Amino acid sequence: MVSVRELNAADVPAAVRLHLAVLDMEFLSRFGPSFMRAYYRAWTTTPGSMSFVAIDDAGTLIGVLLGATDPAIHVRAMVRDHGIALARAIAAAAAVRPRLAKDLVVTRAGRYARGVTRLVLARVRPRAAPPSDAPRVGEVTHVLVDPAVQGGGVGRQLIDAAIVAGRAAGDDELVLVTPPDLAARHFYEALGWQSDGEMTSRSGEAFLRYRFPLR
Ligand SMILES: CC(C)(COP(=O)(O)OP(=O)(O)OC[C@H]1O[C@@H](n2cnc3c(N)ncnc32)[C@H](O)[C@@H]1OP(=O)(O)O)[C@@H](O)C(=O)NCCC(=O)NCCS
Repeated sequence: MVSVRELNAADVPAAVRLHLAVLDMEFLSRFGPSFMRAYYRAWTTTPGSMSFVAIDDAGTLIGVLLGATDPAIHVRAMVRDHGIALARAIAAAAAVRPRLAKDLVVTRAGRYARGVTRLVLARVRPRAAPPSDAPRVGEVTHVLVDPAVQGGGVGRQLIDAAIVAGRAAGDDELVLVTPPDLAARHFYEALGWQSDGEMTSRSGEAFLRYRFPLR
């Protein structure tokens, strides 16, 4: 039997190993284990986040889901509480991987600088709360399952946990994006997620958008 529970700090090393093995092509993974451990640790403590692990009978971690029931609160808390540790880990990774440093500057530097500026300004002038009738949108940012047990229902259990968490937090819907070339889109469609068009990130990567209404 597989059980799903919240990610805790003790899970971080195994969760990062699985993440790097399953999503090795992802941009985040290129920053290496040290950055990823800081990133996962941050996820276990920030408000507005959701993070789950799937554990098999033997106690082995075989799946992870990261997301946010309130992405705005989550991102602000990540930067406020963990921004310096994450920035240090990024700088350390880029220092020993010249190619990564180049890609980072070419594709992300402007965006990150704007993001940091916005966050600094937001501290000085707190942003007005969104109107109370605005839909509350949660998001799933990563879901990954050990290849040895893919196709056995673990991904579905993790997504079910995200749906329960989103509903409990009062979200109206969950959203996610996935690269068009990943088989994951068939997974989301099998679970009833609705295709919501395509988008291109500022750094030029194409993504498919999906939504899952919670009401
Ligand atoms: C995508 C992923 C999380 C799915 O987890 P999983 O445990 O293999 O999926 P499940 O066994 O719970 O499948 C649930 C449903 O989706 C379907 N499904 C899963 N993967 C599928 C695929 N590649 N193609 C078609 N359908 C798929 C299953 O058939 C099942 O449908 P059913 O219940 O009607 O039979 C897992 O395959 C994975 O980690 N892939 C690599 C990482 C990745 O791409 N992550 C997503 C982007 S961040």
